[in-house]
Amino acid sequence: MQLAGAKALITGGSSGIGRGIAAALVAQGSDVVITGRNRQALEATASDLGVGWTQADVGVEAEAVRTVAEFVERHGRIDILVNNAGFGRFAPLVEMELRDLEAVYRTNVFGAFLMAREAARQFVRQQSGNLINISSTSGLKGGSGSTAYSSSKFALRGMTECWRDELRRHNVRVMLVNPSEVMTEFAANAGFEQQRSDKKLRAREIADAVVGALQIDSRGFIPEFAVFATNPF
Ligand SMILES: NC(=O)c1ccc[n+]([C@@H]2O[C@H](COP(=O)([O-])OP(=O)(O)OC[C@H]3O[C@@H](n4cnc5c(N)ncnc54)[C@H](OP(=O)(O)O)[C@@H]3O)[C@@H](O)[C@H]2O)c1
Repeated sequence: MQLAGAKALITGGSSGIGRGIAAALVAQGSDVVITGRNRQALEATASDLGVGWTQADVGVEAEAVRTVAEFVERHGRIDILVNNAGFGRFAPLVEMELRDLEAVYRTNVFGAFLMAREAARQFVRQQSGNLINISSTSGLKGGSGSTAYSSSKFALRGMTECWRDELRRHNVRVMLVNPSEVMTEFAANAGFEQQRSDKKLRAREIADAVVGALQIDSRGFIPEFAVFATNPF
């Protein structure tokens, strides 16, 4: 597809991978709106990148509905939704609280569903669209302490398969991206320190991969791909 002039909505665009994708789409000439809960972070990123912003929690139905409605009212259509907002909480099973699982699912699963549903209603009206779900390699393989996060990304992968099957007959490309470890605020927000390294992935590599996947002619699409650091060791 042609990214110049494309209308793109990116959830969780104030930081990390979402911010990187916003910057990469702006560089291609797309009109971008980012979302997030923290207004200061949104305003700062929006002013840095020259994009629009909407303060909204993807996990609150009324806010998800409002986000897409305002976007379509402003731009007349929606060409790309990047379902990127997400976070992790990590604990061994025997120490886990139900509320942690519920909180992670509220954003990573229910939020992704709400945003996808609202965008898909418009995609079907238009008979076109692109839905990019940012999952994780944790959505391919579980591990110790990752009950909430991994299972939320497994759920996102499952939903993506359903939406892909439903929407491709409406010319909608539904793609899943599974980044390996990326240097962002994710770890700090989950309460642990991330080792920085010149060899680890930056948001930019994920953004470049997303741009490349979008740029192929709309008659084709890449259903799912992972992005790994070549040599992070
Ligand atoms: N970093 C990694 O190693 C890695 C690897 C694989 C996949 N991922 C995935 O990549 C995505 C982005 O993560 P990141 O690493 O870029 O983390 P990040 O730097 O912490 O950014 C997360 C973004 O999501 C927003 N957000 C969180 N909860 C939200 C909600 N309920 N509603 C709206 N916005 C919300 C945050 O803003 P507010 O807090 O202001 O709302 C922020 O803009 C996530 O889905 C994550 O699971 C990350």
